[in-house]
Amino acid sequence: MKILVTGGLGYIGSHTVVALQNEGYSVVIIDNLSNSSKSVLSGIENITGIKPQFEELDLRDKHKLNDFFQRHQDIDGVVHFAASKAVGESAKKPLFYYENNVSTLINLLQELKKLNHQNIIFSSSCTVYGEAEAMPITEHAPIKPAQSPYGNTKQIGEEILKDTCQVNSNLRAIALRYFNPIGAHSSSYIGELPQGEPQNLVPYITQTAIGLREQLSVFGNDYPTEDGTCIRDYIHVVDVAKAHVVALSRSLKTKQTSNFEIFNIGTGKGSSVFEVINSFENISNQKLNYRIVERRQGDVISAYADTTKAEEILGWSSELSLNDAMRDAWRWEQKIRTK
Ligand code: UD1
Repeated sequence: MKILVTGGLGYIGSHTVVALQNEGYSVVIIDNLSNSSKSVLSGIENITGIKPQFEELDLRDKHKLNDFFQRHQDIDGVVHFAASKAVGESAKKPLFYYENNVSTLINLLQELKKLNHQNIIFSSSCTVYGEAEAMPITEHAPIKPAQSPYGNTKQIGEEILKDTCQVNSNLRAIALRYFNPIGAHSSSYIGELPQGEPQNLVPYITQTAIGLREQLSVFGNDYPTEDGTCIRDYIHVVDVAKAHVVALSRSLKTKQTSNFEIFNIGTGKGSSVFEVINSFENISNQKLNYRIVERRQGDVISAYADTTKAEEILGWSSELSLNDAMRDAWRWEQKIRTK
């Protein structure tokens, strides 16, 4: 079966391409290279032995997208990652975020409706829950007003899919709400490549340890949690990638009970910032240079998933531990800096 992966050279996208190829799917990637590099293609090939088809294409370009689909009418499913994801940047460039994340989804759905097979897996985020009232967070937890244009694009994306599924019974969509994907492929052939100063905790830790950053700032140790730092559900990116394969298979086999479904993708376990630092220190055998600073605006105290729905319906659950993810993130950092 032929699967289109948009943003397939990005962090989660590239790991998903590997997982799809491992299951025998033929993959075609489109990516505009705005936050990725063509070299990821050889990383994928080193792991799976197969170089996926690739076309440099920006989903905002309706004309080129139409031309692409004319040439690929045999696509059976789409895994849609292509989007921008920096929360702070989205507050500064809202129009860019709405165009790049929302209008691109519309363009994609307009092309998809011309195909015989209309299956799409959408990258959503636990950010839609905001500061949830109860932990762990189930898919029934209320959606909170978005804290950023980025978060809003994920909420709007889900709404667009839900509304479109309601009027197009040929369309089957699954939104995966990821918690905090971290780590890299254990081979160190692919991993995360943040541009400039990382915004997320784990790449900041590994870049500090390798000497690229002076010190990690821990954003607040006065939260109402056991050790005072925020709690998140850190999940190995390889586990996240596998979730896409099982969700896609469900969609392709028309096993969905509703043509728009939503699943949380996390480990079900919350870890504090200090626990992540400890894990890093254990797997790397070195102390991390960090200091406590003010809270970061917009951070929720705690967010970890109830993964029962994914376990029961998709038959998927995470397999790798926080230590596995930190070990793989650290190996990846060491590999890319010693090239
Ligand atoms: C962030 C985004 C979220 C997005 C996700 C995807 C915010 C507020 N949230 O999630 O919307 O879906 O990334 O990548 O930006 N931390 C530090 N020091 C650092 C970096 C982070 O202490 O230098 C702490 C944070 O306060 C937080 C935890 O580490 O408690 C995780 O932060 P991060 O990796 O940025 O993820 P989220 O904030 O959960």
